[in-house]
Amino acid sequence: MRGITCLFSAKVVSKMGTPIRRSTASNLGIRRPNETMRLIVTTFVGLVFGYFLGVSFPTVSLSKMNIPSSVSSSIDITHIEDKYSGLSTQALLNFWSSLKRNTGISHKFNNNKIWAPTNPRGAEGLPPGIVVTESDLYLRRLWGLPNEDIIVRSRYLVTFTVGYEQKKNIDAIVKKLTENFTILLFHYDGRTSEWDEFEWSKLAIHVSVRKQTKWWYAKRFLHPDIVAPYDYIFIWDEDLGVENFDPEEYIKLVRKHGLDISQPGLSPDSGMTWQMTRMRNDTEVHKETEERPGWCKDPHLPPCAAFVEIMAPIFSRDAWRCVWHMIQNDLVHGWGLDFALRKCVEPAHEKIGVVDSQWIVHQTVPSLGNQGTAENGKAPWEGVRERCRNEWAMFQDRMSAAEKAYFEAMGIDPPNSTAR
Ligand SMILES: *[C@@H]1O[C@H](CO)[C@@H](O)[C@H](O)[C@H]1NC(C)=O
Ligand SMILES: *[C@@H]1O[C@H](CO)[C@@H](O)[C@H](O)[C@H]1NC(C)=O
Ligand SMILES: *[C@@H]1O[C@H](CO)[C@@H](O)[C@H](O)[C@H]1NC(C)=O
Repeated sequence: MRGITCLFSAKVVSKMGTPIRRSTASNLGIRRPNETMRLIVTTFVGLVFGYFLGVSFPTVSLSKMNIPSSVSSSIDITHIEDKYSGLSTQALLNFWSSLKRNTGISHKFNNNKIWAPTNPRGAEGLPPGIVVTESDLYLRRLWGLPNEDIIVRSRYLVTFTVGYEQKKNIDAIVKKLTENFTILLFHYDGRTSEWDEFEWSKLAIHVSVRKQTKWWYAKRFLHPDIVAPYDYIFIWDEDLGVENFDPEEYIKLVRKHGLDISQPGLSPDSGMTWQMTRMRNDTEVHKETEERPGWCKDPHLPPCAAFVEIMAPIFSRDAWRCVWHMIQNDLVHGWGLDFALRKCVEPAHEKIGVVDSQWIVHQTVPSLGNQGTAENGKAPWEGVRERCRNEWAMFQDRMSAAEKAYFEAMGIDPPNSTAR
């Protein structure tokens, strides 16, 4: 019956105007009464016709005959109905076989199945020339020729996990971005339309899911195949002051120093936890640091090198492809990820670093932290903090176990774990 459905919809289109008009009309739910009438009549005729065909010729179906859509859409059921109003079985049969002859389509295609093992898993049945494995976040028009859509092919993707309360911060950063940047906002407070007070918001991409963390969003919406066109991807918090930060200059420095994973230095008043991310005023970039005595067993390992924090990281395309795979679906706070980033670049102590001459202020607004719920007499932020700590331990355990399992499977004595 699939073939009949095809014919039927072709009929609807031809009676109600262009396909666009048809979908617009039905989307809006406005159908003029006589159109509705026609639709009902056509449906009825179509059903009878289909019933008749199904009963009389169970082995003949349009889909089996591979009639190209250009042919089937030019068939007017009215014409068929008129011509075969006597519903002569033989006449109908003749019609279908002549149609089949005229379209020159034979059955042999059905036996030559496509199987392209180099296609992505699950898509082997498609001819490779039609397979599109990567996407982008470029906006397009709804009309005109696709190749004439004027697409701004921005080179960098900037994402923020935001609540409306922090709109001033975000607006200040966005005002510094050039057309080289695509803006993507993850809204954790469900407020999206309010952002339209900013002109740039209309061109930004808004994803709204309540009370999730930026690593939750990143895992779900920043798949490497989706963000493939972007050279660099910013995955930023909302509480960052950018008075001394110029995004284009930043990218230049990151390229110059070969940083695949980086962050801007943090101003000294940023409520620091690590020496590594503190800005220096005598260099463009630094890749290692001295921590408090005894904190670093190896000067090339975190927290003395090969390490940035998770509040404002910037990843190269290749580094992100690896890091995305390391993010755990359930460990939403991402604690411990910073210490493991180095597993994604080689050598990590050269490709991970902090840019000093473009620096930011971390304002430490616990906005999302306050979105927990009070439990067992604990404040919401305490519950969140506790989960963060637990997740850190769980992530380390999983990493150690995974490394151990790998080396055992390879028949190699596992080196001492570096997950902690
Ligand atoms: C966009 O990026 C290109 C390539 O890095 C650069 O030449 C151009 O100046 C950038 N645009 C702006 C407005 O900075
Ligand atoms: C640069 O850092 C040094 C040492 O931390 C400090 O004494 C100096 O005042 C800083 N200079 C500026 C311009 O901030
Ligand atoms: C691994 O750890 C054990 C015990 O802590 C130590 O004796 C050994 O030398 C370490 N091996 C390596 C390769 O670091």
